[in-house]
Amino acid sequence: NYHKHMRQPQRNVEKYLEPFRLSLEKLKEVSVRLKKDLIRGLGKHSHHRAAVKMLPTFVRATPDGTEKGDYLALDLGGTNFRVLYVRVVEEQQKVVKMDSKICSIPQEMMLGTGEQLFDHIAQCLGEFLESQDLKGQTLPLGFTFSFPCEQKEIDKSILIRWTKGFSCSGVEGQDVVKLLKEAIHRRGDYDIGSVAMVNDTVGTMMSCGYRDQSCEIGMIIGTGTNACYMEEIKNVKRVEGEDGRMCINTEWGGFGDDGSLKDILTEFDEVVDQTSINPGVHTFEKMISGMYLGEIVRLLLVKMAEDKLLFKGETSEALLTPGQFETKYISEIEEPDSGLENAQKILTALGLNWDPVDACVVRLVCDTISSRSARLCAAALATISNRIRVNRGLDHLKTTVGVDGTVYRKHPNFSEELQAAVRLLAPKCDITFLVSEDGSGKGAAMVTAVAQTTCILPPSQQGATNPAAKKKKSVRT
Ligand code: GLC
Repeated sequence: NYHKHMRQPQRNVEKYLEPFRLSLEKLKEVSVRLKKDLIRGLGKHSHHRAAVKMLPTFVRATPDGTEKGDYLALDLGGTNFRVLYVRVVEEQQKVVKMDSKICSIPQEMMLGTGEQLFDHIAQCLGEFLESQDLKGQTLPLGFTFSFPCEQKEIDKSILIRWTKGFSCSGVEGQDVVKLLKEAIHRRGDYDIGSVAMVNDTVGTMMSCGYRDQSCEIGMIIGTGTNACYMEEIKNVKRVEGEDGRMCINTEWGGFGDDGSLKDILTEFDEVVDQTSINPGVHTFEKMISGMYLGEIVRLLLVKMAEDKLLFKGETSEALLTPGQFETKYISEIEEPDSGLENAQKILTALGLNWDPVDACVVRLVCDTISSRSARLCAAALATISNRIRVNRGLDHLKTTVGVDGTVYRKHPNFSEELQAAVRLLAPKCDITFLVSEDGSGKGAAMVTAVAQTTCILPPSQQGATNPAAKKKKSVRT
């Protein structure tokens, strides 16, 4: 039986798993460090060197339900590239997806030239417009581009660096809107209207904000991890202004890049970093997000097999191959009812010679790695909600966070574990978690719509419908 099997191996494997178990005290320490990093990232003179970039987004208003119109949305940065045609319906307070298309981006292209990538995007958009009979129109476009960008305006966005699986040449340091428009003009068979650049966290916050006005945080736990939130403009030292709020893209994935998380990094985290396409970059993300969790588990299993604690001391070609233990296996193995059975199927498929105890140990490893991820996210989210609470001089804050991402959505108990830890780490915050309905698509349209009604866009690109706001840079809610 399960427990009889568990007792013996648990004792032996615990020394491997112990470094991944973060106590509440440790999480509190992590939260205090992040708190300092948020301030450093917001500072006028300190932000250049900050590990947590705290990027202004030029989104100053959450939706108030009066936006309307038809939009295009592009979504690049998750598992797939998507094009969407979206209608924002004012009366019903909702965003309707009219149609969409997924285009795969081959791995060579993720590592190729920027020109190839943007030509591919423009081609995919062109085919979509053709199929929708929209080529003659110039619709405004929301571009969900889920990488750290230094935004100058809502339609000028310089890529700081690639993260996750992308590393195309000639894009870092460039304006992404310009690269997109150039690719479209190279074709010359259609055009687009005004562009609003959106990080996926911001799209997620905005798409939830349409349903819940108190949604002021957006969080992603998918291929990568990140969050945005509404900060007081007076604290955003790089942006002029004293009143109102602006959404800040924290890029918390970069937390630890200055060495501040050294004490909790394991030897396995170091290997994941060193063998990634961007060593030294996005330390926090590499402990948390879907792109890396499977690999951490794989490295642990290899080590434990080599030390004769698993699979009778044998490995397999598949287990020795980076990327072969997929993050989705973790969710499958932790499934409450079918988990052990799934583990056995997966281990067989990986060509491993397992016994029932091995399956239990593998499950324990998965559980340890996903728990660490959930608890680290909780510490970061607690830091942000506490910051909002203190910003507003409140003893108690009630707020909503819009969430998206495969790890959060698909793992059987990730969300519960995260929420339980946040309650302990931010006891004065009462946080509602709202899973976003397609934030990257609909949320991008929302941002574009809000940008138009509140004149974040340059005057030349504003519709004639809102003359009152013409001279203003933004409307503050
Ligand atoms: C990476 C990107 C960030 C994005 C996150 C989630 O951390 O740098 O911009 O929000 O992944 O997709």
